[in-house]
Amino acid sequence: MSQALDEIKIGGLGASRKRVEDNRFIRGKGNYTDDITLPGMLHMEILRSPLAHARIVSIDATKAWDIPGVHLVLTGEMMATRNLAWMPTLSYDTQAVLATDKVRFQGQEVACVIADDPYIAKDACEAIEVEYEPLPVIVNPEQAVAEGAPVIRDDKENQQDNVIFDWEVGDAAGTDRAFEQADVISRLKLHYPRSHPSPIECCGSIADFNRATSKLTVYMTTQAPHIIRAAVALVAELPEHMIRIISPDIGGGFGNKVPVYPGYVCSILASILLERPVKWIEDKSGNLISTGFARDIYLDGEMALRRDGKILAVRMHCDSDHGAFFSDAQPSKFKIGLLHSAFAAYDIPVAHLSDRGTYTNKAPGGVAYRCSFRVTEAMFFQERMMQAAADDLGMDQAEFRRMNFVRDDDFPHRTPFGFLTDSGQYGKCLEVGLKAIDYEDFRRQQTEARKRGRLLGLGISTMTEPLGAGNSREYDILGIKMFDSAELKVHMTGKAIVRTGARGQGQGHETTWAQIVSHELGIPADDIVVEEGDTDTAPFGMGTYASRSTPVAGAAIAMVSRKIRAKARKLAAHLLEVSEEDVEWELGRFYIRSAPDRGVTIQECAMAAYSNMPDGMEPGLENTAYYDPPNLTWPFAVYIATVEVDQETGVWDVLKIVAVDDCGVRINPMIVEGQIMGGLTEAYAMASMQFITFDAEGNCVGSNYMDYLLPTAWETPGFELHSEVVTPCPHHPIGAKGIGECAAVGGPAAFVNAVIDALSGTGVRNIDMPLLPDRVWEAITHRRDVSGAPPVRSDE
Ligand code: CDP
Repeated sequence: MSQALDEIKIGGLGASRKRVEDNRFIRGKGNYTDDITLPGMLHMEILRSPLAHARIVSIDATKAWDIPGVHLVLTGEMMATRNLAWMPTLSYDTQAVLATDKVRFQGQEVACVIADDPYIAKDACEAIEVEYEPLPVIVNPEQAVAEGAPVIRDDKENQQDNVIFDWEVGDAAGTDRAFEQADVISRLKLHYPRSHPSPIECCGSIADFNRATSKLTVYMTTQAPHIIRAAVALVAELPEHMIRIISPDIGGGFGNKVPVYPGYVCSILASILLERPVKWIEDKSGNLISTGFARDIYLDGEMALRRDGKILAVRMHCDSDHGAFFSDAQPSKFKIGLLHSAFAAYDIPVAHLSDRGTYTNKAPGGVAYRCSFRVTEAMFFQERMMQAAADDLGMDQAEFRRMNFVRDDDFPHRTPFGFLTDSGQYGKCLEVGLKAIDYEDFRRQQTEARKRGRLLGLGISTMTEPLGAGNSREYDILGIKMFDSAELKVHMTGKAIVRTGARGQGQGHETTWAQIVSHELGIPADDIVVEEGDTDTAPFGMGTYASRSTPVAGAAIAMVSRKIRAKARKLAAHLLEVSEEDVEWELGRFYIRSAPDRGVTIQECAMAAYSNMPDGMEPGLENTAYYDPPNLTWPFAVYIATVEVDQETGVWDVLKIVAVDDCGVRINPMIVEGQIMGGLTEAYAMASMQFITFDAEGNCVGSNYMDYLLPTAWETPGFELHSEVVTPCPHHPIGAKGIGECAAVGGPAAFVNAVIDALSGTGVRNIDMPLLPDRVWEAITHRRDVSGAPPVRSDE
C-alpha cells in the first residue's frame, strides 16, 4: 500500500496554492526600496534636460550649493574627474551618467543634488542654471539616416552617422529564389510604437558605503542583482566581494528594472563621497520620460505564397529606434534580441531578416518590456502579416494558419532563422480557441451585422515564445553566460529554505518555488521559505526577465532537490539498515522495496543528517545546483478577440476574448491564470489606449498618467482562459515552460486584427497602435491606413 503524500494537499505541483507573498502585500507590509530608512540617510534628486538635443554651454550650480541642507551637487564635469561621466551599457555601448558635452534626449540626467530631504534637493535642482544651445532634433530612424542629419553620438570617435548596427539573419539568396516562385506576394508595413512598462513602483536605490568596513551595500529595484554587482564592480572599480546588492520587494518590473540607470550610479558615488547613505527614488514623470522605453520599431515585410495558401518564404526588414544610447540588454550575438524568433510556429522553408538600429534624440529604448528580447514585436508582425496574407489570398484566417502550422509530429523543428523548437500542439490549441469563440457562428453574425451597417470583427493571434535564456553556449550578456542557480538547505526538523539567482517582482516565486521542492521531496510547501535578491546570500544568477525564471531557476530548484534526495536516500538506507539499492522513493518517504511498510520520512532523514549520519558522511542536508538549459522552452498560445466598431465615432468594444495557453506543466494553475490575465490586460492597453510618443522637437508626449493610460478594471474586458492543452517541455526537469509574458506578447495582434477584420472591404490594411478612436474613424472615413509614427502633430 502506497503511503505517498497527496501532492495537492502539501502544495506541490499543480496546486493552486494561495500566494504566500500576498500575506504582506495586501496588508501593506511589503518592504520596498522606498520603505527603507537608514540612519543618517540623505536624499538625491535629478535635474533633467528640458531639451531633446542641445549643446551644454555652461552649468552654474552656485545657487544650489548655497541652499541650506544641500550636501553635494554632482555635475558631469565632476563625474568626469572620476572617470564616471560615462558608463558602459549592457549592449557594448556607452551612456552618459550626467551630461557633459550635450544633452541627447528630453529628460536626460544633467545634475544631481544630495540634501537632507527630497524637497530641498528638488528646490536646489531648480536653482541650477544651465545654458543650452539647441541643436536639430531626430525622432525617428528615417530622420536619423537622412542626408545631412546631425550626428547624435559625436562623443564616439568613429561614429560618423546615426547607425548603431546593420544586422541580418537567414538565407537572403534562398529567400529571393522562393519569392521568384511565388503566385502571390503579400506586403505589410507597420510601426510598433514606443511604450513604457510603467510598473507601479518607479526605479530607486539607497547606496550605503561604509568607510570602516570598505563595504558598499545598495538596496535597489533591480531585476538582476548579480549583474548589477558585476557592473558596479567594473564601473566604480570596487572589489566585487565588498559590494552587496539587495533587491527588496519590487513593485513590478516588466523589463523596466533590468538596465543600469544613471540614478543608481550617482547615488553610489554620492554615498562614497559623503560616507552617508543616499536614497534616490525616481518620480513617475522621471520614470516615464527617461527609463526603460520599449518597442519603437518599423517593420516592413513580404510573404511569398502559393495560391493554395502554402507560405514559401518571408522577408522582413526592420528599422529599430534605440534612442540616444544603445543600452538595452540583448543576448550578445543577436543585435536585435530574439526578433528572429518570428514565424517559429509556421512551417516556412526559408526566410531573411535585416535590421538597422539607429540613434535618435529619445531616451534609451529597446527594453524587453514583458517579453523575451523583442519577441513582442516579432509576434505582432507575424500575426499581422498572417492576417494580411490570408486576406490577399481570400482564404479563411483560421484555415490559413492551420495549414501552415508546424505539425505535432514535426518536432524537433528547425525554424527558418535557426532556432530549434521542440514541442507543441498548435493545431489543437487553435481548435480549442475556435470552439470557444464559436467561430463559424461569429462569422455568420458578422455577415448579418454588415447587412445592417454594424461592423463586427474577429482577430486571431498565435504566439510561440523562446523563453529561458540560456543555454550558455548561445546566450550571454556582456560575455556573462546565461544560466541560473538554486541553493536548498533542509534544516534538522525538515523545514527548508531555497534561494535562487532569480528575482521576482510580483510573479509569485515565493509560492511556486516551494511547490517545486514539495514535488521533488514531499516537504509541505508551507515548511519551505523562499529568498531571492541578496547577492551576499543568493547563488549567482542572471535575474528575472524574459520569463526565464521557471525555465532556468525553476529547473535549478528541481535539480538541487534531486541532489538532496540522493543524499537523503543514503541516510534512509542507514536508518533502515539496508543497502541503498533496496530503498524505494515515494512522495515524502523512502521505504524498503521488499517491506513497503518499513520506511522513513524525508523529515526523519533530515534529522539524521545532523544527528545520526553514517560513518564518513559529511553532515548536513544542503546543496547548490547551477542549471544550464539545453534549449529554450517554447510555450504556445492562441488568442482570439471579437470586437464591434462604431463607424460614426471609431470607438471599438471587445465582445469576447479567449486565450488558450500551453505552457507545459503548470506549477500553480491559479498563478498561471493571473499571469495570463495580466498579460492580456497589457496587450489590450497597448492596442487600445497607451500612447507615449514624441513631437518634432523631441518633446515626450504622454509622460504622465493623464495621457499614458493604464487600464483599470473598468476598461479591461473579461477574459475566457483555457488550460486543456498541455505539452510538457521535453528537456525541463518538471516539464514546465515559461508563461509570464506570453499574453502580453501575443495579445496585441488579436485586438488589432479584430478591428482590421471589422473594416474588411474598405481597403484598410493597417492602423498603427494604439487604435485610438480618432485613428479608427480616420481609417473608416478616408478608407486609408493610419500611421502613428513620430513626430506626432502637436494637436494629437
Ligand atoms: O521569469 P518570470 O517569473 O517573470 O516568468 P515565469 O517563469 O513564466 O513565471 C511566472 C510565474 O508563473 C511564476 O510564479 C512561475 O512559477 C509561475 N509558473 C507556473 O506556475 N507554471 C509554469 N509552467 C510557468 C510559470
